[in-house]
Amino acid sequence: MIPLKSQHEIEIMQVNGGILSDVLEGVKLLAKPGASTLELDQFAEDGIRRAGAVPAFKGYRGYKATLCCSINSEVVHGIPSSKRKLLEGDIISLDIGLKKDGLFADMAVTIPIGQVKSEVRNFLDVAEQSLWAGIRQVVPGNRLGDISNAVQRQAERHGYSVVRDYVGHGVGRQLHEEPVLPNFGPAKTGPRLEVGMVLAIEPMVNMGGYAVRVLDDGWTVVTVDGSLSAHFEHSVAVTERGPMVLTNRSEVTNKGDVLPA
Ligand code: MF3
Ligand code: CO
Repeated sequence: MIPLKSQHEIEIMQVNGGILSDVLEGVKLLAKPGASTLELDQFAEDGIRRAGAVPAFKGYRGYKATLCCSINSEVVHGIPSSKRKLLEGDIISLDIGLKKDGLFADMAVTIPIGQVKSEVRNFLDVAEQSLWAGIRQVVPGNRLGDISNAVQRQAERHGYSVVRDYVGHGVGRQLHEEPVLPNFGPAKTGPRLEVGMVLAIEPMVNMGGYAVRVLDDGWTVVTVDGSLSAHFEHSVAVTERGPMVLTNRSEVTNKGDVLPA
């Protein structure tokens, strides 16, 4: 069963998503050459706790941090460390989640550190657009596969690949709920989207091949071919009017707007 959220629960998730997005905005400002990923993690944890929320990843299956910081060929689940300093020209995926009032929010962005080559900039733009291609399919009556397929087509159209071994998910009273949401697969398949479902859509897009492996730390996922990887995630509610992105900045865009058709 895919859990459905009430209007009230979605309003709470929208507040939580706004807090999460605001904290992440601060983390992004700190992500400059010379900063360590542990400094980013500490800022993120402080910000979440100051808002009266709890980091969602800390303690999850033994994970020890608030953020996942995945640099260059790291795909997801990079562990923050005082020894890992950001360098000009890196890209970093910042993945963050929180729980407040019994409900989770989950999001990620990948950003350049200082100047990056134009082909890298283009890669990041395409990866982010693949998330938005998926979000546009979040309409009642569409099927889960319509999201997966839209993400995959957008990434592959530009010659990039989508990771197969990690997927998006439902989000709500648990960080990971049904359904499992692959970033690839056929359209017009899978369960129908219903008002009240909330999905964490999170494409992981590789510049080279889609194969990944886990490092000996038991967490860090990297591309097998060493190519760059980008990761973007939003928590998105299905409403009768279309997709409502919950993890938008609180004071800027998170007014309960849905995407125009
Ligand atoms: N945002 C990721 C997810 O949705 C990261 C969670 S893994 C954790 O699955 F262990 F770090 F929590
Ligand atoms: Co997630």
